[in-house]
Amino acid sequence: SDAHKILVLAGDGIGPEVMREVARIVQWLSAHRGLKLEIKEELVGASSLAVHGVPIRDEVIELAKQSDAVFFGSVGDPAWSHVAFDKRPEVAILKLRKELELFANLRPAQLFDALLDASALKPEVVRGLDIMIVRETVGGIYFGEPRGIETLPDGSKKGINTEVYTTSEIERVARVAFDLARKRDNRVCSVEKSNVMESGLLWKEVITDLHKRDYADVQLTHMLADNCAMQLVRDPKQFDVIVTGNLFGDLLSDLASMLTGSLGMLPSATLGVERADGKRNALYEPIHGSAPDIAGKGIANPLAQILSFAMLLRYSLNRSEDAELIEKAVSNVLTSGLRTADIMSDGMARVGTEMMGQSVLREMEKLSS
Ligand code: NAD
Ligand code: IPM
Ligand code: MN
Repeated sequence: SDAHKILVLAGDGIGPEVMREVARIVQWLSAHRGLKLEIKEELVGASSLAVHGVPIRDEVIELAKQSDAVFFGSVGDPAWSHVAFDKRPEVAILKLRKELELFANLRPAQLFDALLDASALKPEVVRGLDIMIVRETVGGIYFGEPRGIETLPDGSKKGINTEVYTTSEIERVARVAFDLARKRDNRVCSVEKSNVMESGLLWKEVITDLHKRDYADVQLTHMLADNCAMQLVRDPKQFDVIVTGNLFGDLLSDLASMLTGSLGMLPSATLGVERADGKRNALYEPIHGSAPDIAGKGIANPLAQILSFAMLLRYSLNRSEDAELIEKAVSNVLTSGLRTADIMSDGMARVGTEMMGQSVLREMEKLSS
């Protein structure tokens, strides 16, 4: 059939809550704009552990490989925080990234004008903010060997993780960053700790070489990761595209989310290598987690999940008009003054997850009528 195969993995905590709001939007796009999806749903994370005893089944990984895109919620549950690493809910997302070779995680941080007040920074510092963090996601200290916890002769213990990056791992993620920059403001800032880490030194060298060879038209700068964290708060608009490793990218993107008002606002796309059929594996997810502190209360912000679906439409299905419709609807709803608790400010109208999702849909209807 000509339907796009989408694997939906809602996961834990607020994952299923915010996913419901996207489901309504998908139904509407299917009924009114000719979107054809063949959707499969599976359990991942603690939800899968409870039923199948593993955070993600091999069948689900296989399904993911056969899909045009994976649409992911979030995983994590404090009930499982005392078990061995291979039994943690988080294994689901780590395994998906690794097995599908989803190496380039695009985390855009854009500020909607209506949320100027919700940003943690002064309006003049963030107005018009539009940066793209490209985070490497299948290498670095998340996956490097050796790793583990060893017991020393005196009975005390040693926890070990290793930061590893190879030339080809650095090059392929840097290419994604340079290619993106060419469609934006044509600037890339590469972030590492080349003053302390060999992996960081290699990172800098490989990107410098690649830039000379293939991307001399793009403006390239380098920055140490600690300084980058500071600069993102001092003057975030100095950045266009930031490219960095797995751990620094994780930290810097959570930091960047607060410039836009909330962690509940930021979507992401993770792109993989090209497959035999010419398509690219891809997974879309908000950058936030399962938020156990607010799960079940109906107050989570669904916009990051909704905007992640817009990214899926744009990058995997080539339906940028539908993506823009969603983004415009989100912008209008925020302009109308509706706010979930995480982005609430004086004079605005507070709504829950469901009302926010429905309002976006109503706005999409209005915009397209
Ligand atoms: P988190 O992102 O779940 O939450 C951090 C804070 O932000 C919490 O106070 C939460 O209430 C708030 N928040 C997050 N998303 C929100 C939303 N949409 N609307 C309103 N508020 C929101 O991070 P955490 O608390 O450090 O981690 C909780 C669990 O989630 C852990 O098990 C962690 O491993 C997991 N996690 C999973 C993913 C993922 O699945 N990709 C990402 C991050 C964290
Ligand atoms: C994220 C999360 C994950 C990460 C965890 C849940 C493994 O924090 O997607 O940002 O650290 O990559
Ligand atoms: Mn994270």
